[in-house]
Amino acid sequence: MRPRAVVTAGTAGPGYETARGLLDAGYAVTVVGRDAGRGDRAARALCAGAAEPAARFLRADLSSLAEVRLLAATLSAEGPLHLLVNNVGGVFADRWTTVDGLEGSFVLNHLSPFLLTQALLDALAAAAPSRVVQVTSSSITAAVPDFSEVEPPGEYHGLAVAGRARLANLAWALDVAGPLHERGITLVAADPGTATASGAAARTPSPAAHPARDTGTARDTGTARNAGTARIADTARSTDTARNTDTARNTDTARDADTARDADTARNADAAQVIIRAATDARLRPGAVVGAAGLLRYVTPEVTRAVRSLTHRVMR
Ligand SMILES: NC(=O)c1ccc[n+]([C@@H]2O[C@H](COP(=O)([O-])OP(=O)(O)OC[C@H]3O[C@@H](n4cnc5c(N)ncnc54)[C@H](OP(=O)(O)O)[C@@H]3O)[C@@H](O)[C@H]2O)c1
Repeated sequence: MRPRAVVTAGTAGPGYETARGLLDAGYAVTVVGRDAGRGDRAARALCAGAAEPAARFLRADLSSLAEVRLLAATLSAEGPLHLLVNNVGGVFADRWTTVDGLEGSFVLNHLSPFLLTQALLDALAAAAPSRVVQVTSSSITAAVPDFSEVEPPGEYHGLAVAGRARLANLAWALDVAGPLHERGITLVAADPGTATASGAAARTPSPAAHPARDTGTARDTGTARNAGTARIADTARSTDTARNTDTARNTDTARDADTARDADTARNADAAQVIIRAATDARLRPGAVVGAAGLLRYVTPEVTRAVRSLTHRVMR
């Protein structure tokens, strides 16, 4: 029987590539995301061509604390869990509030993985030796380490707000690494470096989406000629010209999109290697930070104390 692994935010980006790597490493993998269509497609793609389909999708919006608890209950009811990859998180351009009325970046980057891990501890301990990989980020370097409230003071700046939440999350992870180890669970953090955020990518117009400028000229020329006697023939010709121009543009656009997609996939696969190493390298010590050991210096005893206190206050 394959050991069981869960990858949150595993239906796209580096999470998806991590799931693929874990399948190759012999795990049965559950990928978690919000969108059922995307999730089912991801699970099907992960299983494609495999003799034994070992990937599946579970839907949960991890910004909702109730949905996190429900996910944990579903997974726990299925028995021992060998690996949890807390990959959900990101940088948000605008401030947003979760269904629980909490600042969204703090929830998705810290409270949600904190809660999911806590709620899965028994299932993880039952599979000991087991592992938790907490994905982290160099956005921590932009953090202002004030943890008096969930909401950071001052104006909203996406990177700094995410970095602060990620710092809280890393401080928590390192804080619990020791106690978890006593239960046979090794917690390792991993910074995948620069990957392709699918959400951000969707908000950024691709250069390939800009219309080819020549198409208008081709249509104008055809229209002027239609004023002459051979109107019908010219109309047919101008339609063909426009159609050919459109076809050429569509081919170019498709080619550009394919190239961009290949580059994204390669970047995500590289980023996933860091996470997969954190998940599978038996030599790693509890509390190791794979990919960005320099982030450790931001986790001071004061930060750890403040994060512990704030997290417990909010989650009580
Ligand atoms: N991108 C980078 O350059 C970078 C750099 C360093 C660290 N990281 C870290 O890597 C991790 C992944 O980040 P990413 O930028 O690669 O993300 P991403 O590609 O944008 O992640 C997309 C995945 O997140 C899922 N997702 C988003 N919101 C969710 C929610 N509320 N509940 C459940 N699933 C949700 C999506 O599912 P749906 O499609 O169903 O919404 C999809 O599976 C984060 O922890 C981030 O901090 C990223």
